[in-house]
Amino acid sequence: METPQVKFCYKNVTAEILGKEHGITKQQFDELAKKTEPLIGRLNDERKAGKTRYRDLPYQADTVKKVKKLADEVKECENFVVLGIGGSALGNTALQTALNPYMYNLDEKQRKGPRLFVLDNVDPQQMKSFLDWIGDKLDKTIFNVISKSGRTAETVAQFLTICGIIEQKLGKGGLKNQIITTTDAQKGTLREITEKLGFRNLCVPDGVGGRFSVLSAVGLLSTAVCGIDIEQLLAGAAEMDKKVSRKDFYQNPAAVNAAINWHYYNRGKKISVMMPYSFALKDFADWYRQLWAESLGKAKDLAGKEVFVGPTAIKAIGATDQHSQVQLYREGPNDKLFTFLAVQDFERDVEIGKAPDIAPELDYLSGQKMSRLLNSEKIATEYALLESKRPCLTVAFDRICPYTVGQFIYLYEATTSIAGLLFGIDAYNQPAVELGKDATLALMGNSKYKELAEKIKPVTEIDNRFII
Ligand code: PA5
Repeated sequence: METPQVKFCYKNVTAEILGKEHGITKQQFDELAKKTEPLIGRLNDERKAGKTRYRDLPYQADTVKKVKKLADEVKECENFVVLGIGGSALGNTALQTALNPYMYNLDEKQRKGPRLFVLDNVDPQQMKSFLDWIGDKLDKTIFNVISKSGRTAETVAQFLTICGIIEQKLGKGGLKNQIITTTDAQKGTLREITEKLGFRNLCVPDGVGGRFSVLSAVGLLSTAVCGIDIEQLLAGAAEMDKKVSRKDFYQNPAAVNAAINWHYYNRGKKISVMMPYSFALKDFADWYRQLWAESLGKAKDLAGKEVFVGPTAIKAIGATDQHSQVQLYREGPNDKLFTFLAVQDFERDVEIGKAPDIAPELDYLSGQKMSRLLNSEKIATEYALLESKRPCLTVAFDRICPYTVGQFIYLYEATTSIAGLLFGIDAYNQPAVELGKDATLALMGNSKYKELAEKIKPVTEIDNRFII
């Protein structure tokens, strides 16, 4: 059997399909190639110089060994809970939704590992409901606290809450049995706690930012524990690594993808909609939104000049959002580039039921495969968008499996790096996120941030003139 592939299809952005006003001509493609090819070389050099460490994640045999050993130790637990947020949670959710069945948590027959929960927030109602349920199952539950910095308020709050409950129910000794940390190898509060309390732990590799870390221990442990083949995931990423390193623009899917996105941004299409026609891939649209937004939304370019750039990434779900967003997408402003995620062969399929005799007009659906309906809806939506001169890309999965998902992740990470170079910004920092994080600490009474707390007051004080 041939190895399944992820293919990047861009015919429906060409001027042949869309015309010159909204499509990309051969000459424009050649100009994009000229601009992008040196950047592929630069990215390859940056990688060699150790500046893009995420690129080496497909080859971390040691980490895989450690992750598998730890996964083996804990796989008999009934529940596996990821405590984390942002880059320390989104990938875990996306991998689980992509590679395990929809009813995984509810149906024992459909799962090969423990139930998985990824909290990814500090919502009190959500947390209380979860605690009510998990409270008498703590001894059968493993909590994986993931934080690269080891100081993120949301993750720390989740962690402290869980520690309190474990201590109360299982005693201090319980902490060591039920908690695994994934954090920086050397620094940070979580590392200190890990060493002092003797938690089992894994490391977030140095130089790999949260949103680029899904293929590190951050994403691999929960994935392995839930019975997914992480070696295949990394093998897929390694294959894509070869493709996205190609110096020839037209042979490099990440380069073409990044260049098309950059080109349209400069032509006023500043919104990038990712629309998976697959339930399994829906959470990868969330993962992509973070990757794209935090990496490319920047005030300054590499020379320090103010540029305020960044495409806005939007998630839409096929076919669901045909009944919600597509009206706007076709008749609203032509300011968007669409990327469909499509699946050729769904692993499991359903035959649509028979129409009743009294409704023969529904007969056309009877006995057809549901996969055919979903894929027809994708083609139909794309066709409708093209009729309205809206550019469309497709990332086509032969099928969804760890290998193709690994390819997809790596394709988008490399696309982000190349897009960062095209925009001339640093794709790996997120300076704008820090102020909000510090302000939270100030508002929560952290004494180090007293001055900031004072500055925030005018925003928070109640002013009845502006309340209706
Ligand atoms: O991509 C990023 O760097 C962020 O989204 C982080 O992942 C997020 O803020 C969580 O940070 P940490 O892992 O340090 O707790």
